[in-house]
Amino acid sequence: MKGSATSDWECVSASVEETLALGERLGRALRPGDVVALHGALGSGKTTLVQGIARGLGRDPQTVKSPTFVLMREYPGAVPLVHVDGYRLEGAAAVAWLDLEMIFSPRKMTVIEWAERFAGLLPEEALEVHLDHVSTNRRRMRLALRTARAQAIAQQITSP
Ligand SMILES: Nc1ncnc2c1ncn2[C@@H]1O[C@H](COP(=O)(O)OP(=O)(O)OP(=O)(O)O)[C@@H](O)[C@H]1O
Ligand SMILES: [Mg+2]
Repeated sequence: MKGSATSDWECVSASVEETLALGERLGRALRPGDVVALHGALGSGKTTLVQGIARGLGRDPQTVKSPTFVLMREYPGAVPLVHVDGYRLEGAAAVAWLDLEMIFSPRKMTVIEWAERFAGLLPEEALEVHLDHVSTNRRRMRLALRTARAQAIAQQITSP
């Protein structure tokens, strides 16, 4: 995994295991109230990254499945991990019935696939992560270092 110093933090994962490892570091850096907004096409590795996050939080990554058909899952633990998939949400009408207090809570950590479907609803402090398909086994991951919290998380991920 290679990192580079820009206003975004970027790396290229060369395997599923590397994506899991990055997710694990990200999971260890999270604290209650954090929201991770994942952007990226089908198969770009969003759910894989969430499995790594679960591993970093000491949860069983096997329990993490793409919640595409259920919209939201909550994995229990000292700090519950909420996993949302916005793939099937189209437009403001579809999100109007969502229980946003259940999804965004200062007691929980939240990861959202297809976060662009939640435009306008995400907390200002959400950590934006963009995933891109580079080749069969390579995925580019970019963390937007827009907020102080995002910078702190990135620093924790990259420190040895
Ligand atoms: N470096 C990599 N990191 C993550 N996944 C990879 C990598 N290389 C290959 N893959 C493959 O890409 C796919 C990623 O699937 P995953 O479910 O994580 O994507 P997703 O972004 O959640 O897709 P969806 O939008 O359908 O939910 C898996 O089949 C995985 O084996
Ligand atoms: Mg997915």
